[in-house]
Amino acid sequence: MTVTLSPSRRSFLGLAAGAGLATTARATDLPKFPSRPKTSLKALAENEDYWARIAAFYSVTDAITNIENGYWGIMAAPVMHAYRRHTERVNRENTYYARGALSDDLKSVYARLSAFLGVSADELLLTRGASEALQLLIGGYNTLKPGDAILYADLDYSAMKSAMDWLAERRGVEVIKITLPEPATRENIIDAYARAFAEHPNLKMTLVTHVNNLTGLIHPVKEIATLAKSHGADVILDSAHALGQIDFDLLGLGVDFIGFNLHKWIGAPIGCGLIYIRKDRIRHIDRFMNEPGDDDDIHARAHLGTLNFAAHLSIPAAIDFHEAIGAQAKEARLRYLRNLWVHEARKIPGIDILTPDDPSMVAALTSFRLKNRTTTEDNNAIVRELAEEHGLFSVRRTGPTAGDCVRITPALYNSAADVRRLAPALRALT
Ligand SMILES: Cc1ncc(COP(=O)(O)O)c(C=O)c1O
Repeated sequence: MTVTLSPSRRSFLGLAAGAGLATTARATDLPKFPSRPKTSLKALAENEDYWARIAAFYSVTDAITNIENGYWGIMAAPVMHAYRRHTERVNRENTYYARGALSDDLKSVYARLSAFLGVSADELLLTRGASEALQLLIGGYNTLKPGDAILYADLDYSAMKSAMDWLAERRGVEVIKITLPEPATRENIIDAYARAFAEHPNLKMTLVTHVNNLTGLIHPVKEIATLAKSHGADVILDSAHALGQIDFDLLGLGVDFIGFNLHKWIGAPIGCGLIYIRKDRIRHIDRFMNEPGDDDDIHARAHLGTLNFAAHLSIPAAIDFHEAIGAQAKEARLRYLRNLWVHEARKIPGIDILTPDDPSMVAALTSFRLKNRTTTEDNNAIVRELAEEHGLFSVRRTGPTAGDCVRITPALYNSAADVRRLAPALRALT
């Protein structure tokens, strides 16, 4: 069946105008996008009718209530539609497409990302995910000299800590490891980095995680980046969880090297990550394994081979859907859902909530720890009980120095009623 769409509808669905494709997917089956009520952001975040209409764009299993949406973010219907359509095209047109029109189509994806992020397309490089993006940045970082030091914190992502250890061995530099304070505040997190810079004048690069995956804390990136700059040091920013979950201005962060995910909170198909390197810093990441290209060519910083082209081609559809809701509205809704369970859970004796309520420090993700239940086995048992006794799917996290915890991550398809079920379940656990 051939679907004919109006130009605006085409653009909303992220479909390349003029592609002239027949498709079995039916765009007409998609729900109508709701118009946004003219209310304050707070009232919008609490408007269950509006969010139920957004939730209608997601097809979700009813086997369990999933409040573990930190792994990745499922696609909304228009993104699925675009992804199916691109997959059909790649499969049907085969190498004729991949060796032909694909190149221009990918240029359009870069142009969309460039406009979305407010940076130049030649400062961006698509990857398969944030892991690949950050490993390329950390592994290729080439300005260190023996005697220098690099830093990471307990709350950073484990694969990135390993990459930092590998970098230190490769360049003959020292690794400084810090433990971030619990409970965290904006001030004590900044202080932890300030102390490290004061104590280690040889500190030349620090990994910073924008929104960490263990507790959900949003780190004061701009302040840490300013601090690093004042000590002649760089930040490599792990922004895997930030883009699409919280509203921020990339250039305003003051960071030259960033790894993003597009398959978490932007909702692109699995297999979409992104590197940003400020143009005049590209030379400070090595060319990948003698990849041809000059000092300023970001595409020489990786060799990704044959990719899931359809996933990358669907990124504009995901950005369209993200923008149709609006970054601020998404952030406010996610934080509202988080607050609904956290405010109740704080009243239960024996539960520590591992993120502060300061809205600049938290959005969707938040972990809790039951007192004296800090082992992996303890927390696996809590996750099991929440699933088996209460039908709520969560995940254990290992990594914070103070012990394991359980992470709760609502998504846009969750209702207030979904997350309200958590506090009574936690009461039953304690
Ligand atoms: C903080 C952080 N960094 C990096 C990653 C890696 O992302 P991906 O597995 O999508 O490559 C994750 C994944 O959860 C993460 O939470």
